[in-house]
Amino acid sequence: MPRSDLLRKRQFIAGRLCARAALREIGAEAGPLLVRPDGSPDWPADVRGSISHKPRLCIVAVGSAAAVGGLGIDLEPAQELPQAVWRSVLTDGEQARISIGRIHHGRLEPRLIFSAKESYYKWYRSAGGLHDIGFHDVEVDFRGSEIRYHPREPLPTTFGRCVVGGKWLITITWSNPLNES
Ligand SMILES: CC(C)(COP(=O)(O)OP(=O)(O)OC[C@H]1O[C@@H](n2cnc3c(N)ncnc32)[C@H](O)[C@@H]1OP(=O)(O)O)[C@@H](O)C(=O)NCCC(=O)NCCS
Repeated sequence: MPRSDLLRKRQFIAGRLCARAALREIGAEAGPLLVRPDGSPDWPADVRGSISHKPRLCIVAVGSAAAVGGLGIDLEPAQELPQAVWRSVLTDGEQARISIGRIHHGRLEPRLIFSAKESYYKWYRSAGGLHDIGFHDVEVDFRGSEIRYHPREPLPTTFGRCVVGGKWLITITWSNPLNES
């Protein structure tokens, strides 16, 4: 098996092991956790959840559907986002506010915006959203650890938080049941 396939398989297994541990903690039935056609995990019907992994680290968030309408989580290295990809990830508005220094997380701001959008995407799917969305459909701003989402109509806004560590960034996005945000 090629090394990249092996690494991917290890990450998948790590994610499933973390997910099972998290499901046990909230007292939910784990079941087989298969893969849905869109690539997301087939969580039990009464659970919302999300997985993110890198080669040596994996994070999972789960909650009962009675408590959360959807969940998205993303893990990124605490490294600058290469400028070559800024235009595909950041809206003109986001690039403009970065260029005038209206930033909350220094040189990590672009990477954090990227992560917040990945979390939004996973949240949106987990909450049952069906629209195709791209990086320019949602604008992101921060107030400290709070992520503020400004999506294009008809996409919904929702809640988010970020954690910035020395080595890793984590973003998490969630909504109330029925998306009463
Ligand atoms: C699916 C996607 C979000 C995965 O993110 P990633 O950074 O490549 O990888 P991560 O480790 O963070 O996440 C991988 C996990 O995401 C989950 N996932 C995959 N597809 C998913 C989907 N459609 N919806 C929700 N979760 C999904 C899976 O659990 C997967 O791990 P697993 O295969 O081991 O179960 C990413 O590949 C993608 O398609 N991004 C585009 C998002 C986008 O357009 N964002 C802009 C919206 S504003």
